[in-house]
Amino acid sequence: MSPTTFLDAALDRSLVLGYTKIGSGLRRRWWPADPAPGSMHGKRVVVTGATSGIGEAMARSFLDLGATVHLLGRNPEKVSRYAAELRRDVPTADLVEEVCDIGDLDAVRAWCDELSGRVEALHGIVHNAGTMTQQREESPQGHEFTLAAHVLGPHLMTELLLPLLGAAEGSSVVFMSSGGMYGAGLRSEPDEIEFREAAYDAVQGYARTKRMQVVLADAWSDRLRGGTIRVESMHPGWVATPGVSESLPTFNKVMGPLLRTAEAGADTAVWLVATRPESAGSQHFWHDRALRPTTFGWQRDQDPDALAAFLAYVVGATGTTAAW
Ligand SMILES: NC(=O)c1ccc[n+]([C@@H]2O[C@H](COP(=O)([O-])OP(=O)(O)OC[C@H]3O[C@@H](n4cnc5c(N)ncnc54)[C@H](OP(=O)(O)O)[C@@H]3O)[C@@H](O)[C@H]2O)c1
Repeated sequence: MSPTTFLDAALDRSLVLGYTKIGSGLRRRWWPADPAPGSMHGKRVVVTGATSGIGEAMARSFLDLGATVHLLGRNPEKVSRYAAELRRDVPTADLVEEVCDIGDLDAVRAWCDELSGRVEALHGIVHNAGTMTQQREESPQGHEFTLAAHVLGPHLMTELLLPLLGAAEGSSVVFMSSGGMYGAGLRSEPDEIEFREAAYDAVQGYARTKRMQVVLADAWSDRLRGGTIRVESMHPGWVATPGVSESLPTFNKVMGPLLRTAEAGADTAVWLVATRPESAGSQHFWHDRALRPTTFGWQRDQDPDALAAFLAYVVGATGTTAAW
């Protein structure tokens, strides 16, 4: 193990050092090269949850690399406001404003159908939209809302946009998970997946669905292995964003000075889409431009039956193909 690999892994295990701006500040001394300037020219990327925090910074970074960016949010006024800011800051910006609530499966179907009629290829989708609800809420289709927004909507969108992703002849799908997923195992019983089996806990609900994103990205990656579409997941570290200050005010207050910038939180997703690095075997979970474990020693390896039951639930809820 090289000294930098050892130091990198030690930062990761310490959490505070690895996840804060200390981690990204140190690692950028040895991590892989930046995408080449203009390397996304002529390429088209969808960024969900692009009206705040990490998504907004990510859109800016993709624009800086020359990409056409589809800025997707659920609130039309916010989408227009952020698009106007980006056009002001990046005069060459090639931006497309998109409105869709990712947690509403009918809205996702309608939006994907409409997008498929107006663009020919997509080089990237970053499933960045994220939320934490304090009570258990339900989507229009009756699913627990964070499950719908983090898992079901992104899964459905990925499947419906496969033809566009395939047409790019080299594309990437990235699920923006969270280090919080280490605190939750995969749930496979329907009542657990929908968080109906116990009193709702916001942090645990968030962590469960962030674990599901990592598992789902691995399953997608296996399904598409050998083709031109890559699927990865990642976590951004601890980032100063409106989402953190609103949902986790105490954490935000205590960690505030050490939180990363939104740009640093967005970095790995931009790098993954722009450079399409090789993953090692079945590993697809990234942080700070390096693959990371998805479980630690004391956590059980994924039970194949639980994985199959989870995927079957996702397929049933979204009406997608069961081609795993
Ligand atoms: N910040 C961190 O430290 C951190 C750590 C780990 C993981 N993450 C992950 O990083 C991603 C971005 O987080 P952030 O901190 O930048 O959060 P944020 O500031 O709250 O931004 C979240 C974005 O997602 C959008 N969104 C939420 N639900 C949506 C839906 N149903 N449909 C469409 N858009 C939706 C929000 O739109 P509205 O403004 O309209 O709600 C907003 O644009 C999330 O997936 C989060 O879980 C963040």
